[in-house]
Amino acid sequence: MHPQPFSLQHLFANNRTWAANIRRLDPEFFVKLSRQQTPEYLWIGCSDSRVPANEIVGLLPGELFVHRNVANLVVHTDLNCLSVMQFAVDILKVRHIIVCGHYGCSGVGAALREDRLGLSDNWLRHLQDIREKHAAGLLATADPVAASNRLCEVNVIEQVANVCRTTIARDAWERGQALSVHGFIYGLQDGIIRDLTVTVNDFSLVPKAYDSALAGLITP
Ligand code: CO
Repeated sequence: MHPQPFSLQHLFANNRTWAANIRRLDPEFFVKLSRQQTPEYLWIGCSDSRVPANEIVGLLPGELFVHRNVANLVVHTDLNCLSVMQFAVDILKVRHIIVCGHYGCSGVGAALREDRLGLSDNWLRHLQDIREKHAAGLLATADPVAASNRLCEVNVIEQVANVCRTTIARDAWERGQALSVHGFIYGLQDGIIRDLTVTVNDFSLVPKAYDSALAGLITP
């Protein structure tokens, strides 16, 4: 079915079908959910339309608290991301924060090639800083695909460390709240999520987890 020009009626039609399908399985689903949310996970992912958070981990509405931005960056002055994290950890008491990057990330590619895109260059500057930090080491390869894949992985590991260094994570650990921070990477070509094994559940473990994850990147 082709939608009318300028009309988004097809989205409303899709939505009614979706809601009806869920109600068929559980007539009280939306009523129960409207009363409260108790997600166990905060997902920090890329805005890329090919990486829909709930779908790829098979979670329903109410199960995943989500923040997405270009190239899944956790910037220490980004009030938006920090507010999502603080609400998730302090109020919702999520037990896991998942930073999920993906191979073939346009933001990573732009940072690697030093493309000029516009305003977003300033956002992607954070990625270029990471690229420069590892240029002589992990990213020293003549193969542009390997360089891109490695930077996608290294970026996730760096962002996991950034999550752990926030006052939000540190305060949670200091008061004894159970909180694990994880780094995953998603393959656009196979739909599979891989663990970058950088899981941290206490601030003191950040350096060790960071070093061992960088030493064991998936991309050769
Ligand atoms: Co991306």
